[in-house]
Amino acid sequence: MTLRLGDYAPDFKAETSLGPINFYEWAAKDWIVFLSHPKDFRPVCTTELGYLAKIKIQFDKRQVKILGLSVDTAASHREWIKDINETQRCTVTFPIVADENRAIAKQYNMIHPNEFADLTVRSIYLIDPSHRIRLIMAYPALTGRDFDELLRVIDSLQLSQEHKVATPANWRRGDDCVVVPSLATEDIGDQFPQGVREVKPYLRLTPEPH
Ligand code: BEZ
Repeated sequence: MTLRLGDYAPDFKAETSLGPINFYEWAAKDWIVFLSHPKDFRPVCTTELGYLAKIKIQFDKRQVKILGLSVDTAASHREWIKDINETQRCTVTFPIVADENRAIAKQYNMIHPNEFADLTVRSIYLIDPSHRIRLIMAYPALTGRDFDELLRVIDSLQLSQEHKVATPANWRRGDDCVVVPSLATEDIGDQFPQGVREVKPYLRLTPEPH
């Protein structure tokens, strides 16, 4: 069955570069970025995981853990991590799942046979603390991912969880937000102390709430 937004992320046990994990137990109460790459010791993959390692503190601040996956072995991941650290000048500290039998990749629809017969594509699942899938992305092999976009989506989702707002196109931290359509104007009350500007009855802007 294809996983979709709002579905529960399947639990699994896996071998990783840092030893065995039970996914839900490891996730605890954090958000999770669960991402696959096609293959260890490949150039784009090397830059991607290196960049993630360098900005991991940004994920930590948002209570988001990172979990990688490919169909390589745990020993291969450990050897490759040495190269990532050396070439990208970083320290990879997050685990990478060794999904040699492709069981987890299949469960998470990370193998797209018309792109790669038996390797994972560049999939990303953002999973919230209740284990629900909140974002799904899939990138082609020759295109390294924009992980700053991932942080932007996390900020948007976490903001929407705290306040009755959504974020408009190309929103960045500090930009105006929109009041969610499900909140009627007459019910806004004092929910947005910085004010609401009504452009249209369905398009109401407010400064980013704090
Ligand atoms: C890369 O990471 O550079 C890569 C991986 C799989 C196929 C092509 C390129």
